[in-house]
Amino acid sequence: MMKKNESTGRGRTNGIYQVTKDECERCVRDALEVGYRSIDTAQSYFNEEEVGKAIEKSGIDRKEIFLTSKVWIEHFGYEECKKSVLESVEKLRTDYLDLMLLHQPFGDTYGAWRALEELYKEGKLHAIGISNHYTDRMVEFANFTNIKPMVNQMETHPLNQQKTLKEWADKYDIRLEAWAPFGEGRNGLFENEVLKTIGQKYGKTTAQVMLRWHIQRGVIVIPKSVHKERMIENFNVFDFALDENDMNQISQMDTATSAFFSHQDPAMVEWFVKMVEERKSQHDSSKEKKNW
Ligand SMILES: NC(=O)c1ccc[n+]([C@@H]2O[C@H](COP(=O)([O-])OP(=O)(O)OC[C@H]3O[C@@H](n4cnc5c(N)ncnc54)[C@H](OP(=O)(O)O)[C@@H]3O)[C@@H](O)[C@H]2O)c1
Repeated sequence: MMKKNESTGRGRTNGIYQVTKDECERCVRDALEVGYRSIDTAQSYFNEEEVGKAIEKSGIDRKEIFLTSKVWIEHFGYEECKKSVLESVEKLRTDYLDLMLLHQPFGDTYGAWRALEELYKEGKLHAIGISNHYTDRMVEFANFTNIKPMVNQMETHPLNQQKTLKEWADKYDIRLEAWAPFGEGRNGLFENEVLKTIGQKYGKTTAQVMLRWHIQRGVIVIPKSVHKERMIENFNVFDFALDENDMNQISQMDTATSAFFSHQDPAMVEWFVKMVEERKSQHDSSKEKKNW
């Protein structure tokens, strides 16, 4: 979620990971009605078509919407990436994307990046970036590519603040975008006493305090909710400001540890490899169904 013209987007963002295909169209429609103008999807969420339909049916001018998608690992490498991006553009019923990210730091990311650079130069992609690239990989990528990433989408929330990564991202003029801006509520974040006490001062919820903290740090947020009343709640964060003391208290909550898993854990890398292989074999056996 972000204010108009505040960052890479033109409006406020709703992320739609873990939203089922059936629910997706309704969620995007609700979000657009509430006022969100930025939608974050991905090839691996299998809902680009539903997002495209919801945007088309909304009647909102495409130029008003900031549309992000992400290339999945099996589409890495130059040729595959280029082909898959054009498929995403078609599924999303548009002729350009505002932002395309490389979803994970595995496989032929450099080949894929060359495809994104070309599509960016051709105007099919208005911005290009990476996701889940830890500080060392992000700095490497910024130095060994012709066009450096404009965004790095990373797990970021009060318990995993990405302070070092943000310093380096700022140095390279790469915008940090928070996935799981609430840490999906893990480790009791929505019930956290520090956040509650801060929220009480302003008549705001812990969710609103977290979003406001991200925004004041200059971090782009893409909160996800399937509930319209929560979408409204998450949208209403531009009528108050946290003071320095509030920001310092939240800063101290950092454990610099993922609430999910580490992309640097070799067992997790193998898990991703297995997932890609499984999806590929499902794809090969059901090619005629055109599920991809
Ligand atoms: N690049 C990546 O690898 C990556 C990974 C994960 C996610 N993402 C993107 O980031 C987006 C957000 O991340 P996320 O969905 O993992 O986590 P999140 O936004 O931190 O948390 C979503 C959870 O919080 C709940 N919630 C939302 N607003 C609330 C509120 N005001 N009060 C109480 N509960 C609330 C939602 O429940 P309900 O839906 O039931 O309301 C859902 O369970 C995703 O949708 C996706 O677009 C990217």
